[in-house]
Amino acid sequence: MASTTRSVLKASRAAQFARAKSFSSSAVKNTSLKERLAQLIPAEIENVKAIRAAHGKKSFGPVLVDQLYGGMRGLPALIWDGSVLDAEEGIRFRGKTIPECQNLLPKAPGGQEPLPESLFWLLVTGEVPTQEQVTELSKDWAARAALPDFVEEILDRCPPTLHPMSQFSLAVTALNHNSAFAKAYQDGISKKEYWGPTFEDCMDLIAKLPNIAGRIYQNVFGQRKLPAIDPAKDYSHNLATLLGFGDNAAFVELLRLYITIHSDHEGGNVSAHTGKLVGSALSDPFLAFSASLNGLAGPLHGLANQEVLIWLRKMQSKIGENASDEAVKEYVWSTLKGGQVVPGYGHAVLRKTDPRYTAQREFALKHLPDDPLFKLVGQIYNVVPDILLEAGKAKNPWPNVDAHSGVLLTHYGLHQMQFYTVLFGVSRAFGVAAQLIWDRALGAPLERPKSYSSSAIEKIFKDKQ
Ligand SMILES: CC(C)(COP(=O)(O)OP(=O)(O)OC[C@H]1O[C@@H](n2cnc3c(N)ncnc32)[C@H](O)[C@@H]1OP(=O)(O)O)[C@@H](O)C(=O)NCCC(=O)NCCS
Repeated sequence: MASTTRSVLKASRAAQFARAKSFSSSAVKNTSLKERLAQLIPAEIENVKAIRAAHGKKSFGPVLVDQLYGGMRGLPALIWDGSVLDAEEGIRFRGKTIPECQNLLPKAPGGQEPLPESLFWLLVTGEVPTQEQVTELSKDWAARAALPDFVEEILDRCPPTLHPMSQFSLAVTALNHNSAFAKAYQDGISKKEYWGPTFEDCMDLIAKLPNIAGRIYQNVFGQRKLPAIDPAKDYSHNLATLLGFGDNAAFVELLRLYITIHSDHEGGNVSAHTGKLVGSALSDPFLAFSASLNGLAGPLHGLANQEVLIWLRKMQSKIGENASDEAVKEYVWSTLKGGQVVPGYGHAVLRKTDPRYTAQREFALKHLPDDPLFKLVGQIYNVVPDILLEAGKAKNPWPNVDAHSGVLLTHYGLHQMQFYTVLFGVSRAFGVAAQLIWDRALGAPLERPKSYSSSAIEKIFKDKQ
């Protein structure tokens, strides 16, 4: 099965390469994202047709009854070219590892981390954009960033006790009021044209997220007046400014890295898959992405980055700072014996340390090597995997992305843990949006898997005995 996957991916990548070469490089350098996408779509439609004609009737591996009961782990069921997750190696965005993205993608002047704008371009087209294309994208998003008054009012009326993720989801749902796709659909748009208004909605969605996140942060925690979006600054810089950290160059760099690495984690994770599923009903991108956010808000998914810091703080208050390895081990065991999970460890697909954890660790080594909480995270890394192995349940005893992110944010003064998953959500919009655009371009059908009752399963196998 793995070799089938590889050969299909290889064929797909070869087709992308051929397509990319079919346009002169100077013409490609001058295109906007939407123009480049319009050039790529026809060949991709043919590519999918060819794959289906060649392989459509072939079996793609067995389905085990355990997979029906076990959260569909490993069940091959979705197509998404934007990113692919290897259990050992971790994520690749359009075939590129995180270090490759850090190396290849355009950066801000004087910056070292990729601009998330460039990652979005890569996710959508499979190509590395030029610096000029990225600058134009930053400006385009700045121009689209304003929120409708009624959305601002919805946020201002939320009680500060309402979790920031619930506020986030409410505001994104309400943006559907101005959806270009919903309007075009009502006006009778042809199926072939679906991707155009979907693209516009996705661009609006991403563009408006800093203002939503900034407003939630200031309403709940800050009470600062929100500054206007500056079209001369990049997306992450504007977001940092709205949160009140725009003057801190290292924090801005952290946000660029953070948004880049949290954007996408292939198609099957809860937030990415929820967006695709809801989008498959032709719900517009705002409705689809607010559903993604509600999945991201679960503690086994995106809320884990909040949970990690809460857990670390509790540990510090119980065993003190600079505690011995023995004291840390005892605390980890007490978490497990209390029937709780160790947040930030384990993964449904990964079986090694998450490269997103490693990228954040390298950032910390560069910018905050002496931070006490960072040191504690390193100490935990040295003790937790052995304990999880000894406990004998978790299939992956290694840290995931969430084990590290909160430590970095709190180092720069963003202490409000309840807000962390909002930043994850801003980033995840990049992957969900790219996927929604391609789903509409390729005419992805309504998702409708088959469910079985337990008695049907029993009967099927009884009859076969
Ligand atoms: C991510 C996660 C939900 C994956 O779940 P999964 O695919 O079911 O993981 P596994 O197959 O390894 O789970 C097998 C068992 O090990 C347990 N396990 C997995 N990770 C664990 C952890 N970090 N701490 C304690 N127990 C863990 C599971 O709860 C499960 O127990 P059960 O048999 O009593 O139900 C799980 O590892 C987890 O809960 N991690 C902590 C939360 C977290 O960091 N989430 C962010 C993920 S990016």
